[in-house]
Amino acid sequence: MDISGNPRVLSEIPCELQSRLAEHGQEHVFRFWDELDDGAQCKFISQLETINLEQFTSLAGLSCHERKGKLAPAPVVQLEQSCKDSGEEAIRSGALGVLTVAGGQGTRLGWSGPKGTFPAAPITGKSLFQLVAEQIMFSQKKYKTTIPWYIMTSHENEEATISFLLDNNCFGIDRTDIFVFSQGEVPAVDSQGKMLLSSKGSIAMNPDGHGGVISALKISGGLEEMESRGVRYLSYIQIDNPLVHVVDPVFLGMHIGEHSSNEVSSKCVAKLDADERVGVFCLLQDTLTVVEYSDLPSDDATKVDDQDRLLFSAGSIAIHIISVDFINRVANELPWHRAHKKVPFILAETGKQIQPDEPNAFKFERFVFDILPMAQHSLVVETDRAEEFAPIKNATGSDSPESSSALQLERAARWLRMNGFEIPEHARVEISPLTASAPEDLAGIDLPRVIGDDEAMVV
Ligand code: UD1
Repeated sequence: MDISGNPRVLSEIPCELQSRLAEHGQEHVFRFWDELDDGAQCKFISQLETINLEQFTSLAGLSCHERKGKLAPAPVVQLEQSCKDSGEEAIRSGALGVLTVAGGQGTRLGWSGPKGTFPAAPITGKSLFQLVAEQIMFSQKKYKTTIPWYIMTSHENEEATISFLLDNNCFGIDRTDIFVFSQGEVPAVDSQGKMLLSSKGSIAMNPDGHGGVISALKISGGLEEMESRGVRYLSYIQIDNPLVHVVDPVFLGMHIGEHSSNEVSSKCVAKLDADERVGVFCLLQDTLTVVEYSDLPSDDATKVDDQDRLLFSAGSIAIHIISVDFINRVANELPWHRAHKKVPFILAETGKQIQPDEPNAFKFERFVFDILPMAQHSLVVETDRAEEFAPIKNATGSDSPESSSALQLERAARWLRMNGFEIPEHARVEISPLTASAPEDLAGIDLPRVIGDDEAMVV
């Protein structure tokens, strides 16, 4: 808009932008400029103005992220119940916030829309967002406090995410305690380092990975918001795991420590087998790091100790406590990873849209676990997979809605049995996060009736 409210009218490419793009070897993006109408030209310029060309040029020259040095297994400790009190004290004092990365679409799942809107609970079909929201509600009530929820979306799913939350009245959370912000985007490039056009008037962009959360928190004002509320620790979770303990006082207490706080703490589970697709906590030249499943050499992945257990077995379930001060310190420092992917584009010669069958472009992403090597104090805590990990990633097979449902039902039945209830083998029970966040919350609960085999019950 100009000052009188009329749309900006262009026909010439703004000189300064054109020369900046030329300087970075990207002037080809204006190939179809004359075919665009005024509106499309304005939109295109607005998009180009958001691209950080200096950063992009250094990325386009980035080679594959290479790990140099010898790998050793990371030291792992067990959950320490004696830390619960200090964790609970911190929660009561309002020092904990929840940070959820939810920038992904449910593409691998075959779900059109933000992944957080996927119906995940086995009987009620509550969405992944609702399962997190209700855990927050439960803890707010239990600890008589406010636990703000920071949700990272992507440009693609931000609007749909906000509408979903508002349409559902934020599942009971006060909307002023939810902070939605979008991750960044970077252009994809071809093998010559040239940006690709996704249409005649737009660049093919991709989200900057969940590691984008660190800089996005700073840019969006999220860190200032946390500081103004006195939030010092973030419970970092991915949106794809319905069993995650969103608020875990024992883990938080361990993070805070007796004498000095860690900067990042992480949960791991023993890998099921050498091929399980989870990152692994390792020491690289004595520094804690996560090596992604695709990057762990198969020699290392299959190595066993003298009791035949995998040596590199500390699988990452992407659950961390991160200190807010630490995020402030490392906000712009995460490294980039490059991946060869299929990216639809417009052919420069004809303007035709091409859907490639083979990878044709490089995408750039940041991973949140790359904050680990920057931390001066960190901790890896082993937890029980059956308690905390049932991700939904694929449409079928492992890590699918079906496998996750089975694990959710098993955990619910186990929690009830631990409290003395008889749950027949084939009964299906779901425990609402508003009822319990741990087995002990079920003590003294009044169950409506005895459940029969093959019946379903929501507690
Ligand atoms: C991830 C981890 C893996 C870990 C596993 C545990 C990476 C690279 N790998 O694998 O080490 O063992 O989880 O479940 O992270 N997301 C965004 N923005 C993005 C990309 C992803 O918000 O640009 C979010 C997704 O919404 C999702 C989460 O990050 O909540 C995981 O992303 P995904 O790319 O699916 O990682 P995985 O391959 O599942």
